Amino acid sequence: MSAVRVAIHGDGQLGRAVAALLRERDGVTVDGPVARPERGALLRSGADLVVIATTTLLADVAADIEAAVTAGSNVIVSAEESSFPWAVDRELARRLDALARERGVTILGGGVNPGFLFDAFVLTLLGTTAEPVTLTVRRTVDLSRFGTVVLGRLGIGFPADEFAAGVANGSILGHAGFPQSMEIVAHALGLAVDRIDKRIEPLLTPHPVPLDQRPVAAGHSAGVHQIYTAIVAGRPWYTAHFTGHVDMAGAGLSARDEISVHGEHTDMTCTIQPGIGAQRGSAAMVANSVRRVLAAGPGWVTVADLPPAHP
Ligand SMILES: NC(=O)c1ccc[n+]([C@@H]2O[C@H](COP(=O)([O-])OP(=O)(O)OC[C@H]3O[C@@H](n4cnc5c(N)ncnc54)[C@H](OP(=O)(O)O)[C@@H]3O)[C@@H](O)[C@H]2O)c1
Repeated sequence: MSAVRVAIHGDGQLGRAVAALLRERDGVTVDGPVARPERGALLRSGADLVVIATTTLLADVAADIEAAVTAGSNVIVSAEESSFPWAVDRELARRLDALARERGVTILGGGVNPGFLFDAFVLTLLGTTAEPVTLTVRRTVDLSRFGTVVLGRLGIGFPADEFAAGVANGSILGHAGFPQSMEIVAHALGLAVDRIDKRIEPLLTPHPVPLDQRPVAAGHSAGVHQIYTAIVAGRPWYTAHFTGHVDMAGAGLSARDEISVHGEHTDMTCTIQPGIGAQRGSAAMVANSVRRVLAAGPGWVTVADLPPAHP
C-alpha cells in the first residue's frame, strides 16, 4: 500500500506533537507544520489527510476545512466546536458535510475532550446499561503546559472583574467542548437536549504563579471552574464539572477524570487517575484517528460514528 500523506496545519503544541508521532510511523509521510506564509499551500496540497490544529471556534476553522476538503483531503480538526458542529451552526455544518460527501472525503472533529473522554468513552460505558440513566462527569486538569493563547482563552491570568467581562464578551471560554460531548452522546441515544445551563468561575490565587508563558499575579485567576448541565425532557440529564489550574499542587488539586452513571439499576463510577493528559492524550488521539478517518464513509462524522482509535 502506498504511504499515507498527512499535512499538518497549525504550528503549535498539538500540531507539532501530532507531526512527531506520525513521523515515527511506517507508511505515513508528514508535511508541516509550517510557518504562517506557507500554510495556505499546505492546506490546499491535496494530502490524503489534513490535520487542522489551530484554534477552538468552528467559525475560525471553517474556511480551512473547506479549503482542505475542496482539495480532496480528509480532515481531522482539533477545534472543540468541530466535534459536533451542528450545535454551533447547523447551516455551516450542513454545507461542509455536503461538500465532503461530494468530494468523497471525511471530516472528524476532536481530540481527547471533546473527542473521547466525555463522549466516545461515555458511550462505550453506556453499552453496559439497558435503562435510562443520568450522567455526571468531572475533569480536573493541569493547565500549566498550555500556550499563552490557549491559557488566555481558558481564563487564566485575569482579575475577577476582567474575568467576568471576558466571559460576558466571549473572549474567555474556559474549557470549550462540553456542549459538543453532550450532544454527541444525546444524538447517539436519540435524546433531544432542551438547553445547556452554564456556569464559569475564576479560581483566584492568593500567591503569584511564576508561569513562563503567562505569569499569574496574586489575586488573579490561576484556575477556572465550570459546571455545564444538559437538560433533557425538563430534567438535568448530563452534568459536567471542569476544574483546570496552572498551580495544581498550590491549589491542592490532582489530575483526575471521573464518569458516573446512575439509573434505577445502575450505579457506577469510572475514575481515571491521574487523568488523561490534555496534550499527550490529544496528540495520540489525533494521530491514532488517521486510519479510522481514512476508512470512514464520506461526510462530517462524529466519534460516535467511528470504531475506537488505537495506535
Ligand atoms: N479537542 C481536544 O481535546 C483538543 C485538545 C488539544 C487542543 N485542542 C485545541 O486545538 C487548538 C490548538 O491547540 P494548541 O495547544 O496546539 O494551541 P497553540 O499551541 O496555541 O497553537 C496554535 C497554532 O495554530 C496557529 N493558529 C491559530 N489560529 C490560526 C489561524 N486562524 N490560522 C492559521 N493558524 C492559526 C498558531 O499560529 P500563530 O502562533 O502564528 O498564531 C499556532 O501555531 C486549540 O484551540 C486547542 O484548544 C483541542
